[in-house]
Amino acid sequence: MHKPSSSRRDFLRASAALTCVALSASAAQEPPGQGPKIEHRRFGKTDMYVALLGFGGAEIGFEKTEQGTVERLLNSALDAGLNVVDTAECYVESELQIGAAIGHRRKEFHLFTKVGHNPVEGDQNSDWSKPAILRSIERSLTRLKTDVIDLVHLHSCGIEELERGDCIEALEQAKKEGKTRYIGYSGDSKAALKAIELGRFDSLQTSVNFCDQECIELTLPLAKEKQMGVVAKRPIANAVWRHDAKPPSAYHHEYWQRLQELKYEFATGDARSRQDADGPAGIAMRFAAMQPAVSVLIVGTTKPERWKQNADLMRAGPLDKALHDSIRARWKAVAKPGWVGQI
Ligand SMILES: NC(=O)c1ccc[n+]([C@@H]2O[C@H](COP(=O)([O-])OP(=O)(O)OC[C@H]3O[C@@H](n4cnc5c(N)ncnc54)[C@H](OP(=O)(O)O)[C@@H]3O)[C@@H](O)[C@H]2O)c1
Repeated sequence: MHKPSSSRRDFLRASAALTCVALSASAAQEPPGQGPKIEHRRFGKTDMYVALLGFGGAEIGFEKTEQGTVERLLNSALDAGLNVVDTAECYVESELQIGAAIGHRRKEFHLFTKVGHNPVEGDQNSDWSKPAILRSIERSLTRLKTDVIDLVHLHSCGIEELERGDCIEALEQAKKEGKTRYIGYSGDSKAALKAIELGRFDSLQTSVNFCDQECIELTLPLAKEKQMGVVAKRPIANAVWRHDAKPPSAYHHEYWQRLQELKYEFATGDARSRQDADGPAGIAMRFAAMQPAVSVLIVGTTKPERWKQNADLMRAGPLDKALHDSIRARWKAVAKPGWVGQI
């Protein structure tokens, strides 16, 4: 059974909620010089070709995963074909853990981080001012042991902050100064739509999974039209089917509750324990990978064997159209007006 996430993570999520492609996607493309280990897609109109399965760095930070485990996890994933690592300024020590584990292999992967929350331990208040964001990027560069980040996302500010624009100017300045190669917005629902409409971001990081489908019509088609790279976060819906009863972490409650109502056959009863590509994890990832403009799925884990296991599941490719369409139809029949994209 799943371990409860830290209360700090719940707090971050709650406070974020309060404040608030393309050349990519459908066609499988191999990056120059790489074999057919895992599908690669072009990341929007950037120069990045990304392996369809990336790494989400929240879990190792919030769960305080032991450094030896992080080293095994990330180095074995890089060896197996991983090339996107996503983290954030406020995932506790995730940036430091990643920098120490694979900083020496920096040329082998695309590095994404985020800005906007005061990164001082114990204080998760947001600060979207220009100086705070520029300071945060400097801190990330040091912690990640690199001279340049590939992509910095704004970490889920609301529409008001996007309209004020200081936070975007800060990112644009950092890009000009060569601190980050690309800039993006990480967030959901109407704020994500606003971010896309502004036309100033190279990418969108947003929740895409079978318990969180608002983006499929609200934001992804426009992101695709604007040739943005799209990172699917929470792509396996936090694997909430693993819980027989309401999970201990509030972070998981919304998806767990939705799943009770969606009642997908492949995620109920005995089907929940299937580990193959047609089990719930395989179907979740293959479903997310089929959505417009999605180039990379960042699955969070603390387990060294997971990346390879999940990459193998994804090799089964897109779901049968009938299964895909039934997941969409079920959502449309059951989703309530309040089932908006979850940060
Ligand atoms: N920008 C934002 O505001 C924001 C918000 C949320 C997330 N994110 C990013 O997105 C990443 C992913 O989000 P997430 O970690 O919340 O959600 P997720 O990737 O949907 O779920 C992660 C959970 O799934 C489990 N899991 C992974 N593979 C599995 C498999 N094959 N079978 C069963 N369980 C499996 C992991 O447990 P094990 O440890 O057992 O593998 C972990 O508990 C984060 O790490 C972060 O980088 C960003």
